[in-house]
Formats: sequence, C-alpha cells, structure tokens
Amino acid sequence: MKTNFLNLQLNSPLVLASGILGLTASSMKRVVDNSCGAVTTKSFNLEARKGHPNPSIVPFEHGLLNAVGLSNPGAEEAIKEIERFKQVSDAPVFASIFGRTIDEYGKVAEIAVKAKPHLIEVNVSCPNVRSEFGTPFGDVPEDTAAITRLVKQVAGDIPVSIKLGPHGPGIARMAKVCEENGADAITAINTVGPGMLIDINVQKPVLSNKTGGVSGPAILPIAVKSVYEVYKNVSIPIIGTGGVTHWQDAVQMILAGASLVSLGTAVYYEGIDVFNKINMGIQTYLEKFGYESIEDFRGGAH
Ligand SMILES: Cc1cc2nc3c(=O)[nH]c(=O)nc-3n(C[C@H](O)[C@H](O)[C@H](O)COP(=O)(O)O)c2cc1C
Repeated sequence: MKTNFLNLQLNSPLVLASGILGLTASSMKRVVDNSCGAVTTKSFNLEARKGHPNPSIVPFEHGLLNAVGLSNPGAEEAIKEIERFKQVSDAPVFASIFGRTIDEYGKVAEIAVKAKPHLIEVNVSCPNVRSEFGTPFGDVPEDTAAITRLVKQVAGDIPVSIKLGPHGPGIARMAKVCEENGADAITAINTVGPGMLIDINVQKPVLSNKTGGVSGPAILPIAVKSVYEVYKNVSIPIIGTGGVTHWQDAVQMILAGASLVSLGTAVYYEGIDVFNKINMGIQTYLEKFGYESIEDFRGGAH
C-alpha cells in the first residue's frame, strides 16, 4: 500500500480531505495513526474567519450538506498546527489555503511555506462562499491561471495542487489551465452545488445559510467522472475526492485515474477507522488481481 506521490512517500494512498478533523495537530495525528497516508488541513486564509452561523452542517440519507463557510483561525495560527503535527508525525501534511482576492492567495501561501508543508492545496472551488466572493475563482479560467502561477511562484520547491469543483466551464479544461500554469497536481472535487434541504415542519431551509455544498455518497458518480475526465486531459497526478465511503469507491477512483484518494464525509459517518477498512479492502483487491501496487491498475478504466 506504500505509495509514491510527487516524490513523497505515503504509507497508504488514502488522504484526509480538507475540512474534516484538519484543524489541530492532535486530530490529524489520530487520523494517521489509523493508517491514513497523508492529512490535509482545514482551508485557511489570511485573517481568522467565523464562518456561517449554526446549523451549518446537516446530515441526510446520502451524505452531508454543509455551509461551514470556511471558518478558520487565520494563516499564522493554522501553520502552528502544521508545525506541531510535523513534530509528532512523519506523514505528509498538505496545507489547504484560500483567499478572498487573487493577491490574498499569494500572501497566504507566503505564510504557509514557513511551516514547510509537503504540499499546498489551493482551494479555488468552495461553493459556499459564492455570494461573498462572487463567482468561485475555480470557475474562471483566467483567475485560476493567475492564482496557480502566483502560488507556484511563492511555493518554490513545495508542490502545489489546485482543488477544483465540477462546475464552471468544465473540470477537464480547468485542470489543463492549472497544468499549463505550473500546478503539480489536481485535487478533484470539492463539494457540489450548492444544494438545499427544507425542514417540512418548520417549512424553511434547514441550514442558516439556506444553501450548502453537497458531499458524501450522493456525489461519488460526479467525482469519479470528474477524475476520469481530468486524467484524460492532463499528465499531472490527481487526488481523487468525493463520496468515497467504501474500499470499492476508492478502487473506482484509482481506476478512473486518481493517484491518491481523499475522504471527508466518510470520516463523519464511519469514524477514523474507515481508513483501516478501506486500506484492507484495497489490499484484498490487489491480491485478487495479482497486482503489486495501486499503480498497476491506476487509470485502468480508460
Ligand atoms: C464539513 C465540511 C467542511 C469542508 N471544508 C472544506 C475546506 O475547508 N476546504 C476544502 O477545500 N474543502 C472542504 N470541504 C470539502 C471536502 O474536502 C471534500 O472535497 C468534499 O466534501 C467531497 O469529499 P467527501 O464526499 O469525501 O466529503 C469540506 C467538506 C465538508 C463536508
């Protein structure tokens, strides 16, 4: 299950997705102790943000609807947790950053590099903050190109992955824009939507923000298709994300072309033992087909 990704050695191809348990060193450590290969921090920007008022996360039959609103302690505080995590674990840590303006992405990246994360993941695709920031940067090719170039310039030797959503002018095209502007990897996908759930007794939307991003099993087919399309269009590696709950879902992601597979909502529903379970399932799959590593079947669905 050992996996090489952009010259990083991971004990497993599984990654903790941004936004779930990625706020503190101790919670990230608990995740890697349960055989997760790498962790992604909660997205942070320059200044601390409160996010949206509760209720901001609603479970439903096929996943979660969330409008957390990118609450975070601000870049300077966030990097302290990265530094603490690096003292207690050898597993790679990915710093997830975002900005309210293109320039802010560069400034946040400057702070992030101080903690020397193993990768910077650039969130240009959160669907929850559309009204505040206008159209997500990830839906605008010129903005995504500019952010990619800027963060890459600041990051130096640290690899940069751009996290895209399935919306906008087409994820495969956006991935190509990222690759052409220096991205080392693509993370696909963010939450989908936004969507809405209505409380039928109160007769109002459940989320205080009214709408939120959809995650979990409901979006697996969209995520698999997105990874499949991106894999066809670029030669940089992909961190496949979205709806992975069981080992079979992770195998689908790898067959579509993912080099790593990250999990968010599954951790909410199944607990951190989900990483052990999925690793065991992939291991059994390798043995069944006589593969030595996941590289033997990556992209096999094409
Ligand atoms: C509660 C919650 C908070 C999230 N926060 C972030 C975030 O801060 N940054 C980010 O890039 N993605 C965030 N995401 C999106 C996840 O990282 C992931 O891309 C998405 O949920 C799809 O994967 P999943 O179905 O495994 O959860 C969040 C998702 C959830 C459910």
